Amino acid sequence: MATLSTQKISKLNANSPFSCYEACKKQLLKAVDWDEKSELTKALKEYVSVAERLRSLLRNGQGSMTREKWIDFQNQVSKTLGLVDERIDALSKSTNSSLPVIVDKTAKKHNVTGTQLRSGRNKTANMKGILSPSEKNENFEKILGRIQSEIVVSSPGIKWDQLVGLDSVKNVIHETIVLPSRRPDIFRGLRAPCRGLLLFGPPGNGKTLIAKAAATECESCFFSISTSSLTSKFFGESESLVKGLFYLAKRRQPSFIFIDEVDSLLSVRNEGEHEASRRLKTEFLIQFDGLNTTGEDRIFVMAATNRPWDLDEAVRRRFTKRVYIPMPDGTSRKAAILSLLSKGGIKSSLSIADVEQIVHMTKNFSYSDLAALTREAALCPIRELGPKIVRIQENRIRPLRKDDFVEALKTIRPSVCEEQLSKYIEWNESFGVTAK
Ligand SMILES: Nc1ncnc2c1ncn2[C@@H]1O[C@H](COP(=O)(O)OP(=O)(O)O)[C@@H](O)[C@H]1O
Ligand SMILES: [Mg+2]
Repeated sequence: MATLSTQKISKLNANSPFSCYEACKKQLLKAVDWDEKSELTKALKEYVSVAERLRSLLRNGQGSMTREKWIDFQNQVSKTLGLVDERIDALSKSTNSSLPVIVDKTAKKHNVTGTQLRSGRNKTANMKGILSPSEKNENFEKILGRIQSEIVVSSPGIKWDQLVGLDSVKNVIHETIVLPSRRPDIFRGLRAPCRGLLLFGPPGNGKTLIAKAAATECESCFFSISTSSLTSKFFGESESLVKGLFYLAKRRQPSFIFIDEVDSLLSVRNEGEHEASRRLKTEFLIQFDGLNTTGEDRIFVMAATNRPWDLDEAVRRRFTKRVYIPMPDGTSRKAAILSLLSKGGIKSSLSIADVEQIVHMTKNFSYSDLAALTREAALCPIRELGPKIVRIQENRIRPLRKDDFVEALKTIRPSVCEEQLSKYIEWNESFGVTAK
């Protein structure tokens, strides 16, 4: 018996009236975007093309559909067409366009008033109504609202110069995210930036901080998600959450999605795992692949992990740039200690030579280990005071000395051991890109 090959089936599906209608909606989304950016001529051109496609669908779209289904479908398409025609009508007047515009007056019978479309701020609201996947999922609007309030961070407010060291990493990020977001006209075609970047490395070295600084720097809408936002607040809805997240990110371009501790969300798929978590991963991959199909999306996904080896291979492949955030070297440790001392609001009598000795004693300390060490050292002059602490004037407390650090080193030890570090280095050699 003759069977259809997969290729043939997908070709048939791609030509089905439903997928044609979906494609029209996608194009409509583009038109609405131009419209919202007040690029009226471009918007008009796009609307006209959508209207033509919708009309052709109404003429030839029945295919093998039953009569009832076809009437339903026709109604839906006509309604959309009505809205599009209304907008074309309004735009061609305001742009004085010479584009060949065919406005189907019969569309008005579909109860489209057009007043909302013409009235300033809400002009594209009806279009969005058509485009919103809420048709398919009643809860979707609710989820979008929750994403809006809990996951969209307007601006993290962290600046590049708050990051100590990490110059090479800053360069990579500048080139892959910041510049393309500022000059999309240059970074396209072969120069199109990658869509996904993974930061990996031992904990406490600024991965989360880098993401926040990058989001501030590229002036994008920042979506920050982590396992906790998924499991506690969205339990059972994580699949829709991912859908909603990418949907909103598309609408609010340029946008920047940050997934912290990505390993716990998108780890290797295995037999025993929960069905919901498997669906979440699949949805993520689908949404990720759906990005930038037109080459014009400005959505960037960044993820951070302390356990890169736990990532699902398919997820790893999507993050084409994988940047190692190593432990701070001597120079960075020195800069970090000096910065902690200067910002700490505490007097210190440490000379540069003292700091260098401390740097020497803190091999394999992460930034957060160094911060913990400095805090512990800062308590030494207080402990010496004993009960006198209650009465002493603040400016009479003695300044911090190198010995305080030596004392603190007895209790604060590096949180990552050599063995773990070599695991990161190995993974970096296999999968990382070297930051220049
Ligand atoms: N390069 C750095 N410069 C300044 N502070 C840093 C740096 N790296 C880490 N920190 C500080 O250390 C703490 C942990 O950083 P974080 O970004 O959460 O690390 P990670 O995400 O790699 O585990 C934060 O308080 C952060 O402010
Ligand atoms: Mg972190």
